Parts: sequence; structure tokens; C-alpha cells
Amino acid sequence: MNGEAGCCTSLAERFSTVRQRTLELCRPLTPEDMMVQSCPEASPAKWHLAHTAWFFESFVLRPFLPGYRLFNEEFPWLFNSYYRTFAEFPEKRLRSSFSRPGLEEILHYRAHVDEGVERLLAVDAPAEALERVELGANHEEQHQELLLTDILHAFFTNPLRPAYLPGELPVQAAAAAMGFLPFEGGLREAGYAGEGFCFDNERPQHRVWLEPYALAGRLVTCGEYAEFIADGGYRRPELWLSAGWDAVEAHGWQAPLYWTRGEDGWRVFTLRGEVGLAQMEDAPVSQVSYYEADAYARWAGHRLATEFEWEAAAEAMPVEGNLLDVGRLLPAPAHGGAQFYGDCWEWTASAYLGYPGYKPLPGSLGEYNGKFMSGQMVLRGGSCVTPRRHIRASYRNFFPPETRWQFSGIRLAR
Ligand SMILES: [Fe+2]
Repeated sequence: MNGEAGCCTSLAERFSTVRQRTLELCRPLTPEDMMVQSCPEASPAKWHLAHTAWFFESFVLRPFLPGYRLFNEEFPWLFNSYYRTFAEFPEKRLRSSFSRPGLEEILHYRAHVDEGVERLLAVDAPAEALERVELGANHEEQHQELLLTDILHAFFTNPLRPAYLPGELPVQAAAAAMGFLPFEGGLREAGYAGEGFCFDNERPQHRVWLEPYALAGRLVTCGEYAEFIADGGYRRPELWLSAGWDAVEAHGWQAPLYWTRGEDGWRVFTLRGEVGLAQMEDAPVSQVSYYEADAYARWAGHRLATEFEWEAAAEAMPVEGNLLDVGRLLPAPAHGGAQFYGDCWEWTASAYLGYPGYKPLPGSLGEYNGKFMSGQMVLRGGSCVTPRRHIRASYRNFFPPETRWQFSGIRLAR
């Protein structure tokens, strides 16, 4: 976890670029938008602004910047998310009640923290401090993605259904035909062993055995998913895992999270506003749960890939695709070549567990990933709101199987 990965910018530049981008992502938002927490999983944009500053303050400035002065005595617990060994924290569902501190004060907090980190980076800081700045930058990139997925949910629940990015939808090409790429399998290395940054859950690198397999060259499209719905996909328990069927019944699921049925058919809500399904037909379906991905795969006569099958396939591919840097902000139809990075995170059939010999980071930072290793599934590949710099073949995202508010989609395997 050290410095830059294939990039010549200094850590100070890396830090300021990441910090700046978070503010840029907030530019289309009003202060009122930034207060909304429309589901318990989501957080208000204002909270993301404060919490990402809190991370640098708590894990970089307080331990490593001599004489660092807290911006506000209350913030260490107020903006703690889930680090129990670090401090108390407020109930997550109450984050929308944080009308105080006001946005202006949060922006001052960010500036105060920025100034501290810049000061630290200007002197001969210990290696551990530098590693934590890089970790903080990666943490902030994760929150950039969450900020956008949370605002998408917030705007979906707003009766006006506002667009985060108004304007014409980019022209949609037809999706490439669904083909399968064969892989030999065999004894493979999984996990990260490079020199650049990775999260603790990507280590240690270890061997896995893969039987020969094939992965679809692109993700399942909205149009294909609509066929599953039309074929009674949500009314046929034989297609579903037991817990998945329970979720269908409990939540009344009939379609992906942001699909609504109007008089003229399905409409899909996106960061670019609400559009007819026809305009998204060839784009990957997103905002589906693991259960829906699994049921779709069964209906289609296929299965989901394991995380190791995905990693072994993606390893040889360049990290290119419809990621945040492209600015499209919605999944795009696959054009030739393999669609592996970007568009939608892909649910895998792998439970989120520590690799053999896994060790969480020491201290409170050990709570970052390790304590979530039960009851969650791994997703791979990044989405249309994942920063390009953030993703790699060994990257493991994870969510509980019912989760639907992320850009999560489906790749078939066999
Ligand atoms: Fe966080």
C-alpha cells in the first residue's frame, strides 16, 4: 500500500485531485439535496463530505501531524461511520438529521483538514502516514461512488424525479451479440501482489483451482432482463434461492429498483433523469440484487461466475471501460471487445470471506473491511460511477445479497 500505481503524480497531487473531485461531484446539488437520506443504507452528500475529512483527521492528522488542532471536539464521534474501537457514533439512519453543522462549516472542516494533510506531506512524514494518506484517498473514492448512488436514490424518491445530470441521453449503440469467452482454468494466483495500493481484503495472494469455464463477453442488458420479467421471472419460485424468494415476497419486487411501469411500458430512472426502456434496452441492467442476478442466470440456463473466475479473466485485460472518468454516469451498451470494467459491478457467486492467511490492518483501521466478512457477496469490476484510478482486477466490492441501490448488474458464466 505504497504511493502511486503506474502514475507519476506525487502523493500531494493525488490527495488534492481526489479532494477536489468530491467537491466537483457536489456541484450540481443544492444544499437541500445534500441533506437527503432516502434509505437507511444511503447517506446525505453533506455527510459524505464531512466523513471523508474525518477519515484523514482521525487516521492521518491526529496520529501523525505534531500539534494538530481538532477542528471541532464533537466531530471525532459525530462523523465516525462504524469504527467501534475508535469512538462512539450516531445511528446511521439519523444522518439526515444533521442540519447542524451547516454545509458552510463542513466545507471549512474540509479546508482545515486539507491544510493539515498538505502540511504533513510537505515535511518528511513517516511511511505509515503516507500509506494512510493513500488509504484515505481510496476511501474518499469509494465515497464518491456512494455519493452518486445515494443521490440517485434520493432523486428517485423525489416526486419530481430530478436529473443529476440533465440533458440529452448519449446516443446508444446496439449491444454486441451475447457470446461466451472460454478460459482454460487450472491453478491460478488470486489476490494482489503488486507494489501499488490495495485493500487488506485483496491479500494475501494465494492459489486457486479453476475448472475450465466460460464467461459472457458482456453484461446482461435491460432488454434481456425485460424478457425475464415478461416470462414471469418474479412469479416463479423455482427460479429463486429460498432467501431470494422471501425477499421478492417481502419487498414486492417486480423489476430492478429504478424501473417503474407507465402506460407506455417500463421507465428507468437514471442520473440523467427518467427514460423509456427503449432508450436503455441495449445497456446493461443495473440496480439488481444478488438474488435477482442469480434467478436471472438460472432462468437463462447459466450461472454467475465465482470471483476467482472473474479475476483470472480480467487480469489480462486493460483497466478500461465506462467508469466515472468517462462522465456518462449510466451503463452503456457493449461495443465489440470484452465488457469487463465499468458499467455495473458484477455480482459473483462468491461469499465475501478473508483469503487464506488474511490479516486486517492493525488498530481501528482493521475494522475497514474484515468485520464485514459474513453474509455478504463479492462484486467485481467497478461501475459507471467508480473512479478509473480506483479499480483493478483484484478489487473486491461486497454487499449483502438483498442490496439494490448500487450499480450492480449481471454477467453470465458457464
Ligand atoms: Fe467511510
